[in-house]
Amino acid sequence: MDRLEMWLKAHPKVPKPEGGERVQKHYDCRKCYDTGVIIFVQDGYTVMRNCSCYEVKRAKELMEKSELSEEFLKKSFDSFDTKKEPVLINAKNKAVNYVKNFKKNRHSRHNSIMFGGQPGCGKTHLGTAICSSLMDMGIPVIYMPYRNTMTKIKQHILDETVYSSELGRYMDAPVLYIDDLLKGKLTETDVNVMYELINYRYMNNLPLIISTEKDLEGLLVFDEAIGSRIIEMCKDNIALIKGKKFNYRMSKLAGRITA
Ligand SMILES: Nc1ncnc2c1ncn2[C@@H]1O[C@H](COP(=O)(O)OP(=O)(O)OP(=O)(O)O)[C@@H](O)[C@H]1O
Ligand SMILES: [Mg+2]
Ligand SMILES: [Zn+2]
Repeated sequence: MDRLEMWLKAHPKVPKPEGGERVQKHYDCRKCYDTGVIIFVQDGYTVMRNCSCYEVKRAKELMEKSELSEEFLKKSFDSFDTKKEPVLINAKNKAVNYVKNFKKNRHSRHNSIMFGGQPGCGKTHLGTAICSSLMDMGIPVIYMPYRNTMTKIKQHILDETVYSSELGRYMDAPVLYIDDLLKGKLTETDVNVMYELINYRYMNNLPLIISTEKDLEGLLVFDEAIGSRIIEMCKDNIALIKGKKFNYRMSKLAGRITA
């Protein structure tokens, strides 16, 4: 028995190339019958490859295991209350339109989006809603909580193999969501690591979704080469929310919001 036959025997739900018995009735993916792999015959050989749904499934699993709580994973555009505030209406519209135009702009120079400013104003909320919408469209998004991820990456800076594989996950992600970019104390190593990451994604037109407390000046002061690349990638998709009154967390604590 060759390796592929052994594998097929261990995975009875996978349809055989000539169409075998199917165990379940309902499938989310009609291409691979929810197994994540497709088997086909090519030049007389039976070949196996990952199904297009595999990466999305894997990204969803990673996101579920990430720092984003279950509560956050449920955040949607519908549950974002703009309170008729032009600044919030603008941020939400940018998020909704970004998703709407994503496929058209995906490989262009301006394929990214950024939410900046006031803590507690819903930056992560909107970023997460974008991620969920894109994944529902079959586009995998990798979540990168900035502070903890950077701490982990920097720990491996002297071990090139581990460092490259840790950073590589984020460099090559089809879509990367960096949450709380540049949060915490910043060092020269942060600049170097971030330059490697952002420049790679810039050169390869790979989309970024960014939430940060920084405004545009703050990004440029951190590092002009990095800041200007991000600003160019986001271009018109930049929503800056300034002012303590937009801190939803604090408003909720103060009882100004009851929901
Ligand atoms: N306009 C809004 N409508 C509904 N919920 C909101 C709104 N703004 C914020 N929230 C909620 O308030 C909480 C804080 O928002 P969130 O974490 O997205 O803020 P943030 O801008 O990312 O803050 P930080 O900079 O501290 O990370 C979340 O539970 C979020 O769902
Ligand atoms: Mg946040
Ligand atoms: Zn599939």
